[in-house]
Amino acid sequence: MKRVEEPFTYLSYPDAGELPERDLALLDEARKATRLAYAPYSRFQVGAALALASGDVVTGANQENASFPAGLCAERVALAAAAVRFPGVAVVALAVSYDTGDDTSDRPISPCGICRQSLAEWEQRFGSPIRMILGGLTGSVQVIESVSMLLPLSFSREDLPG
Ligand code: THU
Repeated sequence: MKRVEEPFTYLSYPDAGELPERDLALLDEARKATRLAYAPYSRFQVGAALALASGDVVTGANQENASFPAGLCAERVALAAAAVRFPGVAVVALAVSYDTGDDTSDRPISPCGICRQSLAEWEQRFGSPIRMILGGLTGSVQVIESVSMLLPLSFSREDLPG
């Protein structure tokens, strides 16, 4: 038996104003995209913005449904939009923000487990890490260099036979 440790490092900025310009610009796109959410059930409006290797930016927002499991998170809406609008182009960064409508959007949220799995496959497909910028409408911001850091020991296509 041996004990294995996986390192986990992220950057924490007390305020978005301290972010590098390109990260702040992407976070602002995610903040704007929260307005595109359809979230009448949770009232938790999430916006995601993807920076592509081509320089294009693609946004997404959560789309809920009366049959709750049918809802889609902002991150996967953005990935699906990127897949059809810019096929074959790698994603280099993802910003996520949210609006609760009551001034409590003041700390980062990070992608749910299903979105982590989807994002991880994009990294693997293109062999290119996706840098994540996570922040509310105000408050501190977390920057994580790769989705793989949020999903250690992930299941991937390499695990499937054939
Ligand atoms: N949601 C996202 O869109 N992205 C996240 O990272 C976390 C959660 C959505 C799903 C649902 O519509 C609402 O937020 C509340 O969970």
